Amino acid sequence: MTTPQLTPLLACPRCDRTPLDETANGYRCAGCKVDFPNVGSIPWLFAEPTAALGEWRARLNFSLRELERRRHELDRALERAGRRAATRKRLEALRAAVEDHAKRIAALLAPLGIDAPGASIETYLALRTRLPPDQGLMTYYGNVHRDWAWGDEENDASIEIVREVLGDAKPGRVLVLGAGAGRLAYDVHRRLAPEVTVVLDFNPLLMLVSERVTRGETVELHEFPLAPRRLEDHAVLRRLAAPEPARPGLLHVLADAHRPPFAKGAFDTVVTPWIVDILPEPFDTLAARINGLLADGGRWISFGSLTFHDADPALRYSLEECLDALGENGFAPVATCERRIPYLASPASRHARLEEVVAWRADKARAAKAPSRHQALPDWIVRGNEPIPLSPAFRSQIVATRVHAFIMSLIDGKRTLKDIAKVLAEQRLMPADEAEAALRTFLATMHDDAQRPTVG
Ligand SMILES: C[S@@+](CC[C@H](N)C(=O)[O-])C[C@H]1O[C@@H](n2cnc3c(N)ncnc32)[C@H](O)[C@@H]1O
Repeated sequence: MTTPQLTPLLACPRCDRTPLDETANGYRCAGCKVDFPNVGSIPWLFAEPTAALGEWRARLNFSLRELERRRHELDRALERAGRRAATRKRLEALRAAVEDHAKRIAALLAPLGIDAPGASIETYLALRTRLPPDQGLMTYYGNVHRDWAWGDEENDASIEIVREVLGDAKPGRVLVLGAGAGRLAYDVHRRLAPEVTVVLDFNPLLMLVSERVTRGETVELHEFPLAPRRLEDHAVLRRLAAPEPARPGLLHVLADAHRPPFAKGAFDTVVTPWIVDILPEPFDTLAARINGLLADGGRWISFGSLTFHDADPALRYSLEECLDALGENGFAPVATCERRIPYLASPASRHARLEEVVAWRADKARAAKAPSRHQALPDWIVRGNEPIPLSPAFRSQIVATRVHAFIMSLIDGKRTLKDIAKVLAEQRLMPADEAEAALRTFLATMHDDAQRPTVG
């Protein structure tokens, strides 16, 4: 759904400058000649809209296949004789919930084009996708239940922290970046009276739940707690609902935070809840990007953990380094607040976290140098029409993959580990004394992977 409040805030996420035109089913960049469709009623504003749609479809198909695999696993567990009554009851309830969960997820995500053919699970695993591999459809699934079923204490603590750091500033036009299942954005819109609140995330499951619930619908989905308290807590059907429908001006957008589809200076407040340490780009780049989204005198409100996972240890910033980076990227003054709050403490789970969150309000004092356009992957992957470079890393991966494939081809239900080690030595793939130990490590990893339970 295009809306008159959203359109003036938008700019093309591909060329970064052209305002977007409304069309019958979404938006269009006249400069790039690219259409951005709606998914459900949410604008799909990815720089490569078709590729992104394909990736999220692939993730949906992958999740559905995983659920199917899990149902078969439960069927096999139920078939084994001699189960005690309580075990049978748990397995039967879980099996029914997994089957029902797959139907509900498929129905919820039907706007993605569920009927588009999917590949086999092996193909998805082998190809990976352009999105970060640790960001699947279900990665933050627990947030859905916290936001809209049982999380009053956590949700209230979050909005209170945001209110505290915002102080007496008027929020104006707000962007919530990486909004997840949307509760904080909804609470900002409801309790802090901004003009508009744009809710952005790239995960369609979270955003479709958020959009429906904040419109006043009730959505029912199963929760699969991490450490179930009781037998019946292994799968709990939750009713997800907002306290009341959101007033007009809460606007959902599906897009990548690295290529935000907005005009420069479109917002007076940018809120980043639990996201600055999730995004793979360096913190300084993110700070410069957020600076560019803010109008003069605007502010960045951030809150959540500061646990960076960059491969480069120099980029795993402390709070002090973040504050330096904020100053260098045009923010002053910066006020911080630290609070200890519960995190994902589901009443059905024995597992919960206690987090000392950091929040800041960083006012835009001057414009920062605009960061270069984010490119997650090179064109030979994304566009697919350039030769794939044969890098040294690829060369060694090719050899390793061939060896792995060869080992797997020798697994026939009859050969032993020692038999296969002998073949590897005979084929001169490895010296005999190394082959057995290397094979044991490889098979142990395969075995562990096969044992690992998969979460709904
Ligand atoms: C830790 S969760 C926090 C969710 C929400 N802010 C909350 O507090 O519940 C991180 C969120 O960032 C989103 N995210 C991660 N990378 C993103 C990206 N590149 N663009 C948009 N959203 C992203 C994830 O989908 C997820 O919803």
